[in-house]
Amino acid sequence: MASTTEVPYKKIEKICCIGAGYVGGPTCAVIAYKSPHIKVTIVDLNQARIDAWNSDDLPIYEPGLDEIVKASRGRNLFFSTDVESAINEADLIFVSVNTPTKKSGMGKGFAADLGYVESATRSIANLATSSKIVVEKSTVPCRTAQSMRRILDANGKPGVKFDLLSNPEFLAEGTAIKDLLNPDRVLIGSLDTPSGRSAASSLVDVYANWVNRKQIITTNLWSSELSKLVANALLAQRISSINAISAICEATGADVDEVAYACGLDTRIGPKFLKASVGFGGSCFQKDILNLVYLSESLHLPEVATYWKQVVDMNEYQKSRFTKRIISSLFNTLSGKRIALFGFAFKKDTGDTRESASISLCQYFRQERATVALYDPKVEETQIWLDLTETAPQDNLETIKKQVIIAADPYEAAKNADAIVVATEWDMFKDTNLDYEKLYSLMNKPAFIFDGRLILDRPKLEKIGFKVEVIGKASHDIGYE
Ligand code: UDX
Ligand code: UDX
Repeated sequence: MASTTEVPYKKIEKICCIGAGYVGGPTCAVIAYKSPHIKVTIVDLNQARIDAWNSDDLPIYEPGLDEIVKASRGRNLFFSTDVESAINEADLIFVSVNTPTKKSGMGKGFAADLGYVESATRSIANLATSSKIVVEKSTVPCRTAQSMRRILDANGKPGVKFDLLSNPEFLAEGTAIKDLLNPDRVLIGSLDTPSGRSAASSLVDVYANWVNRKQIITTNLWSSELSKLVANALLAQRISSINAISAICEATGADVDEVAYACGLDTRIGPKFLKASVGFGGSCFQKDILNLVYLSESLHLPEVATYWKQVVDMNEYQKSRFTKRIISSLFNTLSGKRIALFGFAFKKDTGDTRESASISLCQYFRQERATVALYDPKVEETQIWLDLTETAPQDNLETIKKQVIIAADPYEAAKNADAIVVATEWDMFKDTNLDYEKLYSLMNKPAFIFDGRLILDRPKLEKIGFKVEVIGKASHDIGYE
């Protein structure tokens, strides 16, 4: 596509990031930390979130984030709700607003809701009084950049030019700072025009402040947008694949950890993302695959859509399969029983609960009329109530609170419980860190443990007296030895 705009190479001195969330906050904090000569302003419509970023109690928990923010805040890193000033002074603007799955209308349940991206783009068009490089940071469906360009071109002030780049973020929560400081690659997509390439090289130079240039790759816009969806789909596909195998392991006596280890030693396969679990969660995997499914359907590729949809279906199956195993072990009823649910975050080292398997487990247990006593070291109580009310709209909070207790520690959760269910792999839940003898003494007998994360030493716990059931490992009655 021919460019209608020409932007000569611009050295970036001021950056604005719209959206102080899990992606925009840490990413731009690291840019500021590593580029003291660049002024970085992160803006958000949510005043409470900005206040938190300006306080000692950051709105996001990420190992290492506090230090990075404290080192740069007030020097060249600023958090503000003054969107207009930040847009106006910036040379380059990251759009890092959320793109949730649509809850209604066409594409409901699959397509990304681009309402926030559109409104952020319109704000840039309406407010900017000088030319800007606009960067898609949010994960978006392929060709969103084209819509953004149209909005910018149609609404911008006379003489103001915009260049659009795609720069998807590959950080994983819990290791965000590590990933940002030492990324496998940085991907920048641009139009293949002089002005597109010039804008890309301006952003390359920002990352080159700390990333080896060989790891900063440039592609066309559409490849960049699609690569983000594909990377997440491929990662999630590996988890669903090993989770499918975990069902075979449970039925045959094979051990899923051993199978994953044996397969992962093949350098063509590799060991990562082969850890069987109760199911993947997080804001990205499910959303991005559903996005890919929707894209495939829109392109009249139903076989491709069905192929990827299966990755999400397998994930749902894994959660209900694990629940069924719990019910059948507990003598086919959970009614009146207390389940201690260990972990509510979607993975360890984050307070994020989006699409967490724990939410589904908790609702399944409630439907079986169990009492759930849950404990998570990082997730806020208000977030737990929000997740449980949102996913069970037919029940009000009072009803939910009759069945769910948030415990102050794992021991309180386990008191008078019939079973412990490990749903998040927090290190503190390992048998080397918790006193399982004490937990056992507090519980009803027989005391069960269901390890949905393969983090516990089964023989050790069985010695204490627990009945232990592990994802991807056969029950005793089948014989796992
Ligand atoms: C990110 C990506 O942007 C998303 O596309 C990806 O798939 C998941 O991660 P994330 O940073 O996790 O989203 O979202 P969130 O933590 O919800 O933060 C988005 C922020 O943007 C919120 O703080 C919200 O208040 C803000 N926002 C939203 C604006 O400032 N302006 C808007 O118009 C809309
Ligand atoms: C993911 C991608 O890894 C990241 O590159 C992208 O930018 C955003 O989406 P995130 O969702 O933060 O990151 O975490 P990730 O570590 O990928 O874990 C996702 C889910 O998969 C978690 O619930 C995790 O527990 C689960 N998982 C991961 C497994 O069940 N088994 C594994 O082997 C790996």
